[in-house]
Amino acid sequence: MEKRNQIYEGKAKRVYETEDPELLIVSYKDDATAFNGLKKGSIAGKGVINNQMSNRLMAKLAPYGVPNHFVQELSERETLVRRVNIVPLEVIVRNIAAGSFSKRYGVEEGVVFSQPTVEYSYKNDDLGDPLLNTSHALALGLATEEEIATIRRYALMVNTFLKDFWHSCGVILVDFKLEFGRTGSGEIILADEISPDTCRLWDEKTHEKLDKDRFRRDMGGVEQAYQEIMQRLLEHI
Ligand code: TMP
Repeated sequence: MEKRNQIYEGKAKRVYETEDPELLIVSYKDDATAFNGLKKGSIAGKGVINNQMSNRLMAKLAPYGVPNHFVQELSERETLVRRVNIVPLEVIVRNIAAGSFSKRYGVEEGVVFSQPTVEYSYKNDDLGDPLLNTSHALALGLATEEEIATIRRYALMVNTFLKDFWHSCGVILVDFKLEFGRTGSGEIILADEISPDTCRLWDEKTHEKLDKDRFRRDMGGVEQAYQEIMQRLLEHI
């Protein structure tokens, strides 16, 4: 399958059409941004790691019962995926307080929840991806009630799967962000990526951060953290 015209360029990926109208090629970049593009940089090798990690996790999630866009890895940075219309919601699941949750609610990072939280942001860069609830999403016509219920169910299934998987790697899954899409026939499937860009992952013993927070917070050791987490994944998947 060959790339045809580029139809989208995001902060971390380019998307191309193919000869099949139902399939797209995603190409992962090393570019990294944070704070809605305010902070810009590059993480050497990130595109390769995010592509390969996301594909391996999505390949496990399909038989687990979470349909998703992954079709076939084409190269280190490129993957064939099902074409979807992205539902403009960022779906965030949290097991432990961190990041914007800690800031918004005044909770120390590291506080463990008795059950996971699910929250939604309106995927809209001009507005800074504002937090919204399901009635807001319905009022804005972003998704139907049934779609939101499906998205929530899948998001919690992804959490159960990922929490167990990362635990087998000696890693704590703190939180993560998912995006879903609608196929041509209207089916809701998981899309976008699951990577250290979109998850918070802490070493179980040391609580060392093995994710994009090292870039967001200028902690150093960014490339090494991405390599370390990929190594752990490859040893246990
Ligand atoms: P937050 O604590 O900043 O809201 O982030 C929650 C999770 O979502 C964290 O794992 C990082 C991820 N995330 C993204 O993937 N993209 C984003 O634009 C933001 C803000 C967070």
